Amino acid sequence: MNFLEEIARRRTFGIISHPDAGKTTLTEKLLLFGGAIQEAGAVKNNKIKKGATSDFMEIERQRGISVATSVLAFIYQDKKINILDTPGHKDFAEDTFRTLTAVDSVIVVIDVAKGVEPQTEKLVEVCRMRSIPMLVFINKLDREGKDAFDLLDEVEQKLGLRVTPMSFPIGMGYDFKGIYNIWEKKLNLFSGDNKTAISEGVEFDDLSNPELDKIIGETAAETLREEIELIDEVYPAYNQQEYLEGKLQPVFFGSALNNFGVKELLDAFIEIAPSPQPKKAEERIVDSKEEKLTGFVFKIHANMDPKHRDRLAFIKIVSGTFKRNAPYLHVRNGKKVKFSSPNAFFAEKKEIVDESFPGDIVGIHDTGNFKIGDTLTEGEKLNFKGIPSFSPEHFRYVNNADPMKSKQLYKGLDQLMDEGVAQLFTLDMNGRKIIGTVGALQYEVIQYRLEHEYGAKCSYENLSVHKACWVAPEDTKNEEFKEFKRVKQRYLAKDKQGQLVFLADSEFTIQMTQSKYPTVKLHYTSEFKNA
Ligand code: G4P
Repeated sequence: MNFLEEIARRRTFGIISHPDAGKTTLTEKLLLFGGAIQEAGAVKNNKIKKGATSDFMEIERQRGISVATSVLAFIYQDKKINILDTPGHKDFAEDTFRTLTAVDSVIVVIDVAKGVEPQTEKLVEVCRMRSIPMLVFINKLDREGKDAFDLLDEVEQKLGLRVTPMSFPIGMGYDFKGIYNIWEKKLNLFSGDNKTAISEGVEFDDLSNPELDKIIGETAAETLREEIELIDEVYPAYNQQEYLEGKLQPVFFGSALNNFGVKELLDAFIEIAPSPQPKKAEERIVDSKEEKLTGFVFKIHANMDPKHRDRLAFIKIVSGTFKRNAPYLHVRNGKKVKFSSPNAFFAEKKEIVDESFPGDIVGIHDTGNFKIGDTLTEGEKLNFKGIPSFSPEHFRYVNNADPMKSKQLYKGLDQLMDEGVAQLFTLDMNGRKIIGTVGALQYEVIQYRLEHEYGAKCSYENLSVHKACWVAPEDTKNEEFKEFKRVKQRYLAKDKQGQLVFLADSEFTIQMTQSKYPTVKLHYTSEFKNA
């Protein structure tokens, strides 16, 4: 297979959902279809057993097992599928967001009974900002849930998506008979009461055919005809270009647990989902078909084994062929590096690989040289952009609780932040350090890891901050910006990259500040520069 064929057959994506919507179950079913695992439960066994440990130990455990599930790769109908894990704990960290910079598309899983939930909203917002192509899978159709049209409305309203149903349920819960596959014009039915046996999809391109009444019953047939007619009238037709541009989101219905609608989803996915896409670097756009290697670090797993202090840096290949032992430029520090034992991921194993192609993820053992966002090239000075920081939700001062160990504390904080566990801000006024996290449990994780991996102790102090806003003055020399800095001095800090951040205590403050200083733009992500 030549280089271009290798690129064309790759599909690198992430599954996003609120915890319990069925992400693990769906992942597992996809792996089963790909023959990558032989039995259900293989991925699931790795999942945290609820209630077994304290919440924060769960995060630690998840970190431990998630190397295994970070990248799950398999071949399906000659396509190389890479599923990037987006950790779904209720207190998820920055890590989840960052993984979204390495996917070419996503599948959003929604629970038919619960509808759109908060974490899905947050993650979809990020995907929308980045125009990532999204497919929606509405799961658990074997249970009573919301009306399908109401759900489609909810997806449009709450997630801001423009949907087009590619399949539609026939009944729901107890009355669930199956799914009409609009995309392939096929009827897929459950047989029997236990809702687990499946009848193969039968071609059915003319719903007015009276045969339909015989198969699913008159009432259900009539309802289905009306519903499909309504869909034709109300929803836009599928359009590949719009999907790829993130402007239209196809929706599928099914039940991951019962394996219903999953094959339809996968078949449509491999047909329409994008192969590795061009990626913006600060200097230029890099096309995946370029022959020279480029790639970037999107995730770091540190200190899996505290005795060895090893870290695994996950690199997404953007263009060219990654070769074992070839010299590459680590652009940030200007050094040439070679990798003698890069890992590729396959199913749940990782193994040493000689060659990898765009779309693939390579795991590199690292002794602390890499940071998230670092770029590798064959010599060109490129910096991939679009690995943004988002405003954390929680903020606390961090204090050194053991004066003899301040070196260890700062080293630990530095490395944990490189790994993307949380964000560190330094107050302009007095140099005090503030840790910002997405979930409150991260504070315990940081404390625990500082102690166990770095021998340092820290304590926290509450701080009333609502959001961190990255500050972008239109003119750094104008009076307005000078006044802003003077008046807001107490609330100004630098992030780890040295960018100016305004720590606002309320939404109201943000609005007031913005209207008082209109030329000093405030942003919730650090990405505005690159927009
Ligand atoms: P997550 O990764 O998104 O957190 O969700 P996960 O797949 O673990 O699924 C959460 C729960 O929902 C699991 O039940 C799972 O079996 C169930 N589930 C997933 N898909 C379906 C579906 O299509 N129909 C129904 N009825 N249930 C589904 P659990 O009891 O929490 O776990 P387990 O004891 O089954 O492992």
